Amino acid sequence: MRDIPKVELHLHLEGGAPPAFIRGLAKEKSVDLSGIFREDGGYTYRDFWHFLQVYEAATSVLTTPEDYARLTRAVLEESAANGVVYAETFLSPDFCGGGDVGAWRDYLTAIREAAEDMERSHGITLRGIVTCIRHFGPERSRPIAVCAAETAGDWLTGFGMAGDELKGKPGDFLWAFDCAREAGLRITVHAGEWGGAASVRDALDALNPERIGHGVQAIDDPALVDRLAEDGIVLECCPGSNVFLGVYKDWRSHPIERLRERGVKVTVSTDDPPFFGITMTSDYENLNRHFGWDEEIFAEVNRNALEAAFCDAATKDKIA
Ligand code: ADE
Ligand code: ZN
Repeated sequence: MRDIPKVELHLHLEGGAPPAFIRGLAKEKSVDLSGIFREDGGYTYRDFWHFLQVYEAATSVLTTPEDYARLTRAVLEESAANGVVYAETFLSPDFCGGGDVGAWRDYLTAIREAAEDMERSHGITLRGIVTCIRHFGPERSRPIAVCAAETAGDWLTGFGMAGDELKGKPGDFLWAFDCAREAGLRITVHAGEWGGAASVRDALDALNPERIGHGVQAIDDPALVDRLAEDGIVLECCPGSNVFLGVYKDWRSHPIERLRERGVKVTVSTDDPPFFGITMTSDYENLNRHFGWDEEIFAEVNRNALEAAFCDAATKDKIA
């Protein structure tokens, strides 16, 4: 499973931070983050909403472009060790440098240069998707979209929205998404992780994304499943994340295979792997164990992912 070449579309850069890396930065900067770690060193939190708080606390020690360069190298080393050949990562100007959007270009340059080093040394290709944070509100999404639009290009390829999908309505963020789309960025929105099928519908109707982050709760609305299949909307499924956070009580209950059977283009990603104690390899092992996914099905979902990737055609040809 580890050696299958994998394409991962949904990976938050800060969410990939190994706990030892964040603990080390906290020590260097004399910040007390002891409350977010278990005794054995892993991250600790009670539920998804507490996870978002712990995640934000962890990012508070990432205060310089060099911190982000080191983070990028650590995340990609782990991805490459799990057979990932191409990844897209969510980047949040809200977290880089404590939300000082004036410094965004410096952060992006550091991340990109670290990624290009890793491409040379480990053969893994990365592209960036700027993401606004839904629970920070629509006003905040505007400068974030401007950051994205100003740096849109062959490396920074998309714009999205993460965070608490139970807060606000997708339509409130239309200005930001229009700004990003006009700059040529491709669009993905987190929905249907916690907000049910209606949340997926709202995101599609209001923001017209070509991919949905998670989207798995669409399974509860058969007409919506048909729409996803007919319109070729790609789901960035993160089954290990969903099972760990309790969206589904166990692997057997996860709808990824039912969605696939219904003709929806599903893909597999890890979201925030060290926060959940998962890797791409462990997710593939679970998909094999619980749904009998074999090399052919893994090839299909990786094809879906590469087709839906936001990079240019020449990059896709190189990876395929
Ligand atoms: N940010 C990081 N991980 C997330 C998730 N699983 N859902 C929403 N926002 C996130
Ligand atoms: Zn996510």
